[in-house]
Amino acid sequence: MDKILIRGGKPLKGAVQVRGAKNSTLPLMAAALLGEQPCVLHNVPCLHDVFTMDKLLAEMGMTNEFTGRSMTLDATTVDSQVAPYDLVRKMRASFFVLGPLLGRYGKARVSLPGGCAIGTRPVDIHLKGLEALGARIAIEDGYVIAEGPLAGADIALDFPSVGATENLMMAASRASGVTRLSNAAREPEIADLAQFLNAMGAQISGAGTDLITIVGVDALGGAEHVVIPDRIEAGTFLVAGVATRGDVTVLNANAEHLASVLAKLRAAGAEIEVMGSRIRASAPDGIKAIDVTTQVHPGFPTDLQAQTMAMLCVADGASILKETVFENRFMQVAELVRMGADIELDGNSAVVRGVPALKGAPVMASDLRASAALVIAGLTAEKGETAISRVYHIDRGYERIEERLASLGAEIQRVRE
Ligand code: EPZ
Repeated sequence: MDKILIRGGKPLKGAVQVRGAKNSTLPLMAAALLGEQPCVLHNVPCLHDVFTMDKLLAEMGMTNEFTGRSMTLDATTVDSQVAPYDLVRKMRASFFVLGPLLGRYGKARVSLPGGCAIGTRPVDIHLKGLEALGARIAIEDGYVIAEGPLAGADIALDFPSVGATENLMMAASRASGVTRLSNAAREPEIADLAQFLNAMGAQISGAGTDLITIVGVDALGGAEHVVIPDRIEAGTFLVAGVATRGDVTVLNANAEHLASVLAKLRAAGAEIEVMGSRIRASAPDGIKAIDVTTQVHPGFPTDLQAQTMAMLCVADGASILKETVFENRFMQVAELVRMGADIELDGNSAVVRGVPALKGAPVMASDLRASAALVIAGLTAEKGETAISRVYHIDRGYERIEERLASLGAEIQRVRE
């Protein structure tokens, strides 16, 4: 297993290219199951999670091919509608194959994803929605066994779940009749998926709002699509630049997708400049404390909560961070405290009292975004070395993070443990 070693205290300076969005690529790959001709995705990030999804689709007989950052996905060779536990347990997003399998083949056997570090992460909203579309759902030996046919319906989601909105949009694209999803998730990745499905011949409108209408069609064809930039990766680099009192520009980003984050960085006293697809953040004099509450989009994204907490550990004053989307997303706190942070937890709130500097320490990555927070904390630590183990968590969502941070002046390296 690899380790990442960091000697912090240097302001990050320079520009870094933002890759394609992981949380768009994964549902887009699942959506390709619906294509009766091959599809091509461009701007695909080279991430472990993408390779895991590729492996799952290949298990079902799909023929996929990577050439650089483009990927051809051919579902004409699919010969199985089973998503096995040993792959689904590795990555919850594997559950996104349920909707397209059911929509296209009228049957699916998909392992329940199980919980993970940030919470139990049930799939009740997915299953209730599919049943509303007429699917017969049974749970046997930890698998969801689902059968069609599907007929359009009006579905009100109990919570604007991103994955449930995506699964239901994909299933409904092949249901007979009209489906209206209300209280739908509004994340940019939903609109990206709808654009791809419509290019394949689906009839989806309203994606990006809380009411999405899908008129079912008899078949979907092939399509070519460019994955949107990864707003969470862009936000991670900007937060790292601010946390280290540096000056970082992210290239090929979409500032609209980060409006709530940029507003919070400005409120903390960072200088933010948006020039087309370039976003620059600088904070040479450090930042002051701010309060942050995570919300569904367009609120402050839960996927940037841990990284922002690391930044606030060295802000001037006391900040209150509230996590409202997941029930246990403070996995980074214990390790940040070991690095000298002053954090008090109270339920889903954390009071972060800024300290002059953190100290390097050996720490362990737990989940993807908590690990990114530890990297940021290590970059700000003025004394000592931070050694992060279990970096496979980071590789799930960030492409060669140590090389890209090093290009911004960080003293960081990856070593084999
Ligand atoms: C997506 O997960 C993202 N993953 C997550 O990013 C992100 O944190 C999350 O959306 C919220 O924005 C991908 O897109 C691959 P949800 P998803 O369904 O779809 C509860 C990362 O770091 N819920 O919107 O699984 C659930 O427990 C990852 O890149 C139900 O109760 O998230 C959670 O508390 C982490 N029942 C809340 O809703 C359900 O049926 C939000 O979950 C579904 C969800």
